[in-house]
This record gives sequence, C-alpha cells and structure tokens, in this order.
Amino acid sequence: MAYNNIIFEVEDSVATIMFNRPKALNAMNSETMGEFMDAIKRCGDDDGIKAVIVTGGGEKAFVAGADIAEMQDLEPSEALKFMERGHETYRALELLPKPSIAAVRGFALGGGTEIAMSCDIRFAADNARFGQPEILLGLTPGWGGTQRLPRLIGIGRALELLMSGGQIDAQRAYEIGLVNKVVPADQLMDETKKFAKKLAGMPAFAIKMIKHAVNFGQELPLDHANRLEMECCAQCFSTHDQKEGMKAFLEKRKANFIGR
Ligand code: CAA
Repeated sequence: MAYNNIIFEVEDSVATIMFNRPKALNAMNSETMGEFMDAIKRCGDDDGIKAVIVTGGGEKAFVAGADIAEMQDLEPSEALKFMERGHETYRALELLPKPSIAAVRGFALGGGTEIAMSCDIRFAADNARFGQPEILLGLTPGWGGTQRLPRLIGIGRALELLMSGGQIDAQRAYEIGLVNKVVPADQLMDETKKFAKKLAGMPAFAIKMIKHAVNFGQELPLDHANRLEMECCAQCFSTHDQKEGMKAFLEKRKANFIGR
C-alpha cells in the first residue's frame, strides 16, 4: 500500500511510523487511519522488525486529534463506525507482539494522546502537550481516552483532564506517569531510537509474553492473572533465548540472543 499521510521506515530492526500531515497538525482522518493500520500490520508480519516507534512529522504536533473537519457532520451511526475503526487500529498497535514507543513532539491531543497511550512506552520532547479536549467540542473521547487514561494515571487525574479539556505539558505528564521520559526536543528521536534498538535486541519471545501477560492480565482477578503469568513464563522455557540467557549468565559472558 502506498502512503499519502505517513512515512514508514525500517532501520536496524526498528520501524518508524511517522504521521505526515503537518498542515493539519497530523490530525487523524480516515485515510491516515487506513494507512496507519496497514503500517501496524506490516510491523506485525515482518519478522525483521523487532520494535516500533510512532511519531509525528513537522515541528508542531504528534497528532492534534481526530480530524474535526471530517467528523463534524457525522450521524451517530457513522460516528460509531469512525470510533470503531480507531479502536480497532489502536488496539492492534497495543497488542503488537513487539515493543512500541511513542515519540511525542508538540501537540498530542484527543486522538493523539490516545495513540500515545496505545504504545507501550512514551518518550516526550520538552515541548510536548497532552490532553483530551473532546469535551470542548461537546463530545467524549472516542478512541480510548476514557479507558486508557484512568488506567495509566488514575481515575481522579483522568477525570480532571477529561472533564476540563485542559492541556498538560511534558513535565506534568511525566509527574503523573503519562510519559516515561522527557528529553530536549532536538534529542527526542535519537533517544527514542537508542531505546528502541535496545528493546529490539531483547529475547523476542519473552517480550511477546510480557506484553501478553500485562495486556490480558490487567482485567483478570489476581489468581487468574497470576496463572496467566506462570503460563507465559513457562512457555519461555521452550526457546533458544532462555537456554542461551541462563547458560551465558552461568558462564559469566554476554548472551547471544537470536529472537527465538
Ligand atoms: N482536526 C482537523 N484539523 C485540525 C485539527 C483537528 N483535530 N487540529 C488542528 N487542525 C488544523 C487547523 O484547522 C488548522 O488548519 P488551517 O491552517 O487550514 O486553518 C491547522 O491544523 C493548524 O491549526 P491551528 O491554526 O489551530 O494551530 P494553533 O497553533 O493555533 O493551535 C491546537 C494548535 C491547539 C492544537 C489547535 O489546532 C487545536 O485545538 N486543535 C484541535 C485539538 C482537538 O480538539 N483535538 C481533539 C479532536 S476530537 C478527537 O480526537 C475525538 C476522538 O477521541 C476520536
């Protein structure tokens, strides 16, 4: 599939998906959503890709939300389809069996914060701004904001942001656990790529199992979640990387992981 609104690159086993509609501050329209889903599938299907970075092109924005011009005249049934499509895409990103990092520069509002929250880890430039301003448009978030935000930062803080539509800067996002790290804007991509490469070199099956246990264990009663964890851990014992990792430890040398 040829892309009009995103740039897709792979370097050193790390894929970068960059939104590239800077004139509209990378607002997420249907066309971009289709391309984004295609890129996510490519990341899942290509065994050579071991980690994924999601970022925004241009100086000002990661993604300034869903495209308001496209949404404004939707009927409720059409709006539901629009929201379903976003949820399907963001969930596919969240459930990729590979690590994903959002590299956020500038505005990540509404659907932008929602994409960042669907990544495993968030690195923010010091000029990043987050928020769920949907209330100011007379609606609720529709691509996961009411669900992932309280899970990440707690119900009280999430409701404050959701009901006020206010924005927070990168430092505040770091303080409340919405982002993992804040770096100067000109170092954002270097720092993110460095960390993505580090994750790309980790035992791939164990990474997949960690994501599975975390993503599916959250909603289970603790005893069931613990059982899920045991099964995920046990399955790692069928891999080369587990044998190599433990052998290397005991032989006091660096492990040579091969991703199986
Ligand atoms: N949809 C469509 N176009 C958008 C957009 C969006 N979400 N955000 C910005 N743009 C467009 C603007 O219309 C403008 O286009 P023109 O140059 O053609 O007029 C261009 O991008 C630049 O934007 P501004 O002139 O507004 O730039 P600014 O620096 O003055 O303000 C901003 C930046 C604070 C991010 C402001 O653009 C803004 O508030 N954007 C909307 C943010 C928003 O409400 N996002 C939530 C959308 S709803 C959603 O996401 C629902 C959901 O969960 C599914």
